[in-house]
Amino acid sequence: MKERIRSYKGAIFDLDGVIVDTAKFHFLAWRELASQLGFVFTEEDNERLKGVSRVRSLEILLEIGGLQLADEEKIELADRKNKNYVEYISSIDESELLPGAKDYLLLLKAKGVSIALGSASKNADLILSKLNIRHMFDAIVDGNKVSKAKPDPEVFLLACAELGLKPDECVVYEDALAGIQAAVAAGMKTVGIGKPSHLPGADIVIAGLHELLL
Ligand code: BG6
Ligand code: MG
Repeated sequence: MKERIRSYKGAIFDLDGVIVDTAKFHFLAWRELASQLGFVFTEEDNERLKGVSRVRSLEILLEIGGLQLADEEKIELADRKNKNYVEYISSIDESELLPGAKDYLLLLKAKGVSIALGSASKNADLILSKLNIRHMFDAIVDGNKVSKAKPDPEVFLLACAELGLKPDECVVYEDALAGIQAAVAAGMKTVGIGKPSHLPGADIVIAGLHELLL
C-alpha cells in the first residue's frame, strides 16, 4: 500500500498538522484574543479550528464566547490574531518540521513525483520559507489563491491543475476532516494524518509522514 501511495504522479500536501505543527501557535494567538474579549478558549476548542479558514475560525471562536459582532470588528479581530500568530511563526525554523516530513518530500522528489501544497493558510509562503522547504514544491496553492474553503475541492483541484495532472493521478495528505472531504470531492486518493476515528473517508490513516518512509 505504501509503495503504491508513493507511485502517484502528484502529491498534494496540506501544511498545518501534516508538515509542521503550527496548531500550537494558532492556539496561543486565538487564546490571547479570547482572553482580551473576556472568555476562556481551551485546547479542546482549538480542535474545532483545524483546517478551518481564518474568518470561519474567528466565527467559531465568537460562538464559543457567545459574542455577536459587526463585520468591521470581525476584520479587526482576525487581523489582530494574525499579527500575533505571525510573530510566533517568524521565529520558527527546520526544527518545527513534523517527523519524517522532509525525508518523505526528498523521497518523492527522488522518485520524480510532482509536489504541491494545498493549504487554507494565507501564511503558507512565510512558513515554507522559514522551514527551508519552499524550493521543494512544484506548485503552491494557499489561502490567498482560493475563494472557497475546504471541504470545497477548489484548493486541491487548483494544485493538481498547476502540476499539469488529472485528479486521479494525485494523492492528498491531510490531517483535517474538512480536508479529506475536499480531496474526496476532488476525486483524489487520500492519506489521513492522525487518528482513524477523526478521519472517516480517508483511504488510509497514518500517525505521521514518518510511517511512509519504512
Ligand atoms: C489551516 C489551519 O491550515 O489554515 C487553520 O489548520 C487555520 O487552523 C487556517 O485557521 C488559516 O490559516 P492562516 O494562517 O491564514 O490564518
Ligand atoms: Mg491541516
